[in-house]
Formats: sequence, C-alpha cells, structure tokens
Amino acid sequence: MTTAEPVTVEPAAPGADTAVFDELESAVRTYCRRFPAVFTRAAGHRMWDADGREYIDFLSGAGALNYGHNPPEVRAALIDYLLADGPVHGLDLHTGAKAAFLHRFREVVLAPRGLDHRVQFTGPTGTNAVEAAFKTARRVTGRTDIVAFTGGFHGLSLGALAASATSFKRGAAGVPLGHVTRMPYEGYAGDDVDTIDYLTRLLDDPGSGIDLPAAFVVETVQGEGGLTAASAPWLRRLAEVARERGILLIVDDIQAGCGRTGTFFSFEEAGIVPDLICLSKSISGFGLPMALVLVRPEFDQLGPGEHSGTFRGNNLAFVTATACLDRWAEPEFAARVRRNAAALEARLDELAAEFAHLGCTVLGRGLIRGLGFTDPALADRVSRAAFTRGLLVETSGARGQVLKIMPPIVTEAEELAPGLALLADAIASAAQDDVSEGDLA
Ligand SMILES: Cc1ncc(COP(=O)(O)O)c(C=O)c1O
Repeated sequence: MTTAEPVTVEPAAPGADTAVFDELESAVRTYCRRFPAVFTRAAGHRMWDADGREYIDFLSGAGALNYGHNPPEVRAALIDYLLADGPVHGLDLHTGAKAAFLHRFREVVLAPRGLDHRVQFTGPTGTNAVEAAFKTARRVTGRTDIVAFTGGFHGLSLGALAASATSFKRGAAGVPLGHVTRMPYEGYAGDDVDTIDYLTRLLDDPGSGIDLPAAFVVETVQGEGGLTAASAPWLRRLAEVARERGILLIVDDIQAGCGRTGTFFSFEEAGIVPDLICLSKSISGFGLPMALVLVRPEFDQLGPGEHSGTFRGNNLAFVTATACLDRWAEPEFAARVRRNAAALEARLDELAAEFAHLGCTVLGRGLIRGLGFTDPALADRVSRAAFTRGLLVETSGARGQVLKIMPPIVTEAEELAPGLALLADAIASAAQDDVSEGDLA
C-alpha cells in the first residue's frame, strides 16, 4: 500500500503556449512535429492534451511503455520508495532497490528459462547497451567486425549507429562508420534467396573478402526498420551458424523484448539462447531510463570500470522494473498478453482485407505490428489523419513506408477496438485524399 495519495499534476491551461518549443528546442526534435499537441496527462493507453482532448496511444513510447502509462501499482511502489527516502542515484553502488530487482529478475525471468546470464547495467539508453555488447563480443573473440542486417536499428551512438541501416541516420555521424558488415535479413532478397545460405557462403569462403566477425547482432522483429519479422527457423539457423564458427550471437531485444511478442523475450519461440541480450525501453516498465546486457557468464570479460557511466544505477527504474516483474510471476499474465496479441492480429487481418485494394499487408508479430501499403507514402498520410482523429500511430521503415501499430501489451480487445476504428477511418480518408489529389493533377 502506498502511504500517499497519487500525485496529480494540474494540466497546463487550455491553449498552452507552444511557441516556446519552436523558439527554444533544437531542430533535431521529431515526434513532436508529427504529433503537435501539448500532453499533460496520461493513463493506460490514453493521453490527454492541454485542451483536454483525448488520444489513444498506439505509440507506447516506441516500446518504452509496454504496461501503459502510469500503471497504478507500479506508480504506488515508486511513490512509496520516494517517500521512504530511498536513494535515487547511486552510480553502481549496491542498493536495496538493485538487490530486489536482481533477485526478482533471476526468479521470474532467468531461472524459469534456464538462463544463467550475468546482468550488466549500462548507461540508461538502448544504444549504450548495444555499445557494451559490441565491446564484450570484441573482447571475447579478439575480432573487430560485427555482422548486422539490412533494416536493422541498434541506436545512434557511433558504434551502434554503424550497425544501424538507415542512410539518413548514418549520414548524421559525420565520420566513417566502420567495422560492421551488412548482410541480408530474412526475405530481403526475395523468396528465392536463402539469406542464411548466402551468409554462410560468404563467411566460409576465404575469397569472399569477409573477415570472421566477433558477433551477429539481430532483432527478431525490426521495430524501426519496417516491422519485418524473422521466422523461428531462420533465427535457429542463424544461432547455429554463429555457434559453429565461434561467433557470438547478440539479440537486440530493446524494442521487441519485455513482452511485445507475447513472451518475455522475443526469441523464446525460436528456442535459441543468445550469448548477449540487450534490453532497455520497457525493462523499467514505467518509462524510466534503464538498460542492461545479459551476458553468458564465460563472456563477462570487461573489467571493472571498462564500460562505466554515471547513470547505471537508476534506483527509481529498479523499483518500477521489480514491480513490473511481479506481473510476469503470474502465469495468467503471459496468457493475457497473447490474447491481446491475437485480438490485435484478427482486427488487423480484417483491415488488410478491407483495404486489399491498397495492397494492405499485416507485418510484425505479437503486439509489435505494422501495416504496409503498395503506395509507400500512404503510411505517413494515415499517421497524420489518425492524429487529427485522436489516435497516435507512427511510421516505420527507411522511407516511413509502414504504419507501426504498438499499443501497450496490456490493452484488452475491447480497449483496442476504438483505436482500430479510428485507424480504419484514417486509412479510408488518407487513401481518398490520394485519389482526390490524383484527380486534380
Ligand atoms: C532495437 C533497438 N535497438 C536500440 C535502440 C536504441 O535505443 P535508445 O533510443 O534508447 O538509444 C532502439 C530504439 O528505438 C531499438 O529499437
């Protein structure tokens, strides 16, 4: 029980001043350009702006809010901790909050899956977890290169950016991005090309010009790269290729993990055990910054302080993360997430049938989903039309060609329905706009 009433923040006055953002905030801002409201309240799968307008949230903080906004029992744990003067910042000092998290994580996540990985806390962003995983793979193998895949996204700091595929993001680096070899993801070269055969051939051919890499880094579902999902057999073969050649397998589960696909880790369905697993976004479960790498014990070879950082002990995030893990301790929880995923899939299949004339296809897995269209520009128009209807839904892919649908994983079928109805209306309207523009041309 919390010892205090939940804190309510008064919404800003109607018509809140938005000029300050244009005047003061850097040009690099992005989501707020697509969704130019001033948000003042959020609960579950809904947000409200300064004028009291309600929005249904199918963004989920790009995967950082899998349990929705402000889940009450998690918020209560956080408030209790603060009121008890629990340490908030602690570098990587031992704290009670960290111990509680580690105990619960072992009990609820690692042990039931037979994993004996160590937990490396990194700087609190996904990209820093990826940097740490690359350093470990390079240290363990003594090799330099990482194999990353077409469509992959792993973050924007230089090492992780080198592994990220989008030319627009890579172009901002200002320096050459090296030591990454790009290989085709499943399906990239069409149905006739087996991309694992292709990869194996290049790795095993001394004349291919490809050096043996330290690691493969892969997303099981490409959250930023257009919601392409790898099949379980493809992932199993990739893991096998890595194991046979002494290459480490890194699964970047930063966006697809923490329940997004219906299981805690996104690779569970494939039955593989990665050497290194990157987690961030929803690991804290409350939108608080936190990131970690799970490392097989024999590969835990970075020495004390070699991948340090001031904010590796976000105790507030440990508290909320522990509270969220309590949910996974209940067997009913995973079943509930899978039911929600099935409801989402069924409705998206209906939408694809309704908009078959637009080449609408359903992409992704579980509750990390996409809708693709024949016209690559349509997803962008749908996203904008959805916003005017009170639905937050973004685009994904190097050309923004896929509509990304990511409600909180706890959103039940009846709660999904109103958002999906707005989405259907937005698709119809955006497609109509296109026809009208075509008529005028
Ligand atoms: C798969 C994946 N890896 C890494 C990152 C980088 O995380 P962050 O933005 O917290 O640095 C992201 C962010 O979207 C991601 O989706």
